Amino acid sequence: MSVIRPKPPEDPIQYDPSAVFATGGISREGLASLSPRLDQARQETLTDIDRFRTGKTRPGEVLDPAFIDLPDRLLADYNTQRPESELFAILSTARRIREAVDRVVVLGIGGSYMGTRALFEACCHPFHNELPRGERGGRPRLSFEGFNIDNDAAQGLLDLLAVPASGGGPDDLLARWALLIVSKSGGTLETAVATRLFLATLFEAVGRDRGRLAELVVPVTGKSGRLAALAGAIGCPDVFDIPDGVGGRFSVFTAVGLLPAAIVGIDVVRLLEGAAAMNRRFREAPVAENPVLQYVGVCHLAEAEMGATIRILSTWSSRLEAVGLWYDQLLSESLGKGEQGATPLTTVTTRDLHSRGQQHQEGRRDKLITNLLVGEPRRDPIRLPSIGGFAANQDALDDLVGRAWPDMLAAAAAGTNEAYAADRRPTADITLPRIDEHTVGQLLQMLMLATVAEGRLVGTNPYGQPGVEAYKQCMMRRLRP
Ligand code: PA5
Repeated sequence: MSVIRPKPPEDPIQYDPSAVFATGGISREGLASLSPRLDQARQETLTDIDRFRTGKTRPGEVLDPAFIDLPDRLLADYNTQRPESELFAILSTARRIREAVDRVVVLGIGGSYMGTRALFEACCHPFHNELPRGERGGRPRLSFEGFNIDNDAAQGLLDLLAVPASGGGPDDLLARWALLIVSKSGGTLETAVATRLFLATLFEAVGRDRGRLAELVVPVTGKSGRLAALAGAIGCPDVFDIPDGVGGRFSVFTAVGLLPAAIVGIDVVRLLEGAAAMNRRFREAPVAENPVLQYVGVCHLAEAEMGATIRILSTWSSRLEAVGLWYDQLLSESLGKGEQGATPLTTVTTRDLHSRGQQHQEGRRDKLITNLLVGEPRRDPIRLPSIGGFAANQDALDDLVGRAWPDMLAAAAAGTNEAYAADRRPTADITLPRIDEHTVGQLLQMLMLATVAEGRLVGTNPYGQPGVEAYKQCMMRRLRP
């Protein structure tokens, strides 16, 4: 028997804006003449890493570029100093938690949970939480809280935690759960109040045993702050750091995203390898062949020359919706400053052709649609069955018997693009060869790099989110008059 395992695929994702040029709204020549500025934006993006490391930050400037080479650094450390590496620690804790509990509750908001949700929905079984533990490969269920102040949603999760599927007592593995608390600042109210609530619930669930509580709580936070202090008081054996220089919405490849991903069985090494592959393309490929810079250039020109201030990410798989929502947050918080910045909007197609399609086809000409297409499904294609003995051809589908779901989706994508093109509605395509850890790693890194590079192109600091403070202050004035 051969011991050589086939190497999993590492095909690159592709960006194709040709249908945008075909509208005549912007041209290939226009994009080519933007090349020097795009190159400059790339240089600035990469130079920021050195500026950050050498402390050359300008007065008052927020600078968080350490996410850029993070995948490369994590992989290099893992390969050279395995037991001491951060990735090894993440994988060890993931294994410990995986073997101890059947559900993990992630508390976090914004950048502290949206990347995890994107990874979970893209890379796990679409009904992971509904499957019995055996069919989940012994991996826990994953639930999210602390991203809202929704009384009934929180009560609903408490119901689930109180009544485990097995109906067993606290020593029953299927009844046990753990808490991952994620907050870089450690002080965000939504997450902090949920932390109190779920800590109190967990404390009761472990029979008020402080040692067991500590083992089932894993904080992921900045070096100091209230959550770090709380972790110390509880005595949590594992606490993960969100490194300086990595902002919340850029933290998906820190323990913020990697720990829960590893717990539910996502191959985090392949995720990081995908991200590192995108880094190489960003650094090395000439502007004209660089997916990050081409994407930035087209989005920028479409906004400046076609008035496309709304950027629709049209995801052609339900599994990519949470990636889109993560990107909505990334783009909004990074570039929505100084009364500038395009408005991102995620859709799931074909679902939303039946809710938004009308407007995209005939509404204001203020949209650039970027399709997020998937080359091949992960599972065997489903084919349309014949109707069987209980009816004739009343649904008039007999001529499609044997047609595969991916073929029908491809027809929908080509047909939608054709209809938009006929009305000069600009569409571009990002194509993932398939949805797996490697392509998702590439995609998330591509979108983070693009966001920062666009910020440098247009002179908006992509890091920090000063505007979010206003609501917090107004809210706290009401809570603590
Ligand atoms: O991108 C960001 O920095 C924000 O979206 C934060 O992630 C979000 O506000 C949560 O902050 P914290 O992790 O400090 O609780």
